Amino acid sequence: MATFEQIKGFIFDLDGVIADTSVYHAQAWRQLAEKLGVTWTDDLADALKGVSRMDSLELILKAGGKEAAYTQAEKEVFATEKNTNYLNLLKGMDHSAILPGIAEFLTDLKANGYRLSLASASKNSPLVLEQLDLAQYFQARVDPTTLKKGKPDPEIFARGAEVLGLKPEECIGVEDAKAGVASINGAGETSVAIGDATILKAADIIFADTAQLTLANIKKAMA
Ligand code: G6P
Ligand code: MG
Repeated sequence: MATFEQIKGFIFDLDGVIADTSVYHAQAWRQLAEKLGVTWTDDLADALKGVSRMDSLELILKAGGKEAAYTQAEKEVFATEKNTNYLNLLKGMDHSAILPGIAEFLTDLKANGYRLSLASASKNSPLVLEQLDLAQYFQARVDPTTLKKGKPDPEIFARGAEVLGLKPEECIGVEDAKAGVASINGAGETSVAIGDATILKAADIIFADTAQLTLANIKKAMA
């Protein structure tokens, strides 16, 4: 692991780290899955975290043994339907969707001169950041439509450092998904995971929730 003093930037996942939007994604997928006759489970919900829209749909169809049941055109319609469900849920989102301690942490990072980028697989991430008035904290964002491979591939977090003009070892990546932690580790950055330690055990540092995400706690964990 890098030393705390080496760190110059933070690369953030969005859904489930900054905003409580993972529940909206899950709800929107569940609506579609049940319509297609696929049983929704907690394991399926976990497997979808951090995964792109089309890859999520493939995982859902596979879970229901329906991977060969639909044409590409039908799949596109399903993915659009999920996104419409999701955008409808987002309409009800206000500042209370900012996860505990995140506003304070972002303010603290800015005050201490750290550079911040966003490495979210979501095409809706600019909308979410704007709606929560958090866009001002981020110097850069990786556009997920330009990626060859999604999480767990290291590409998105490697790009998250590049867009800040930083080396991987100068960056901390923050994630709530197993696939995201794998991406951070593969990029050679320090991984901070938020959530269940049994699922996220590959991370360098694990906090149970975002309220624990402070510079002081990170410094202590890196010592
Ligand atoms: C994030 C979420 C996933 C979501 C993906 C794509 O990684 O954790 O649940 O499927 O973004 O989001 P989008 O808004 O582009 O469908
Ligand atoms: Mg996430």
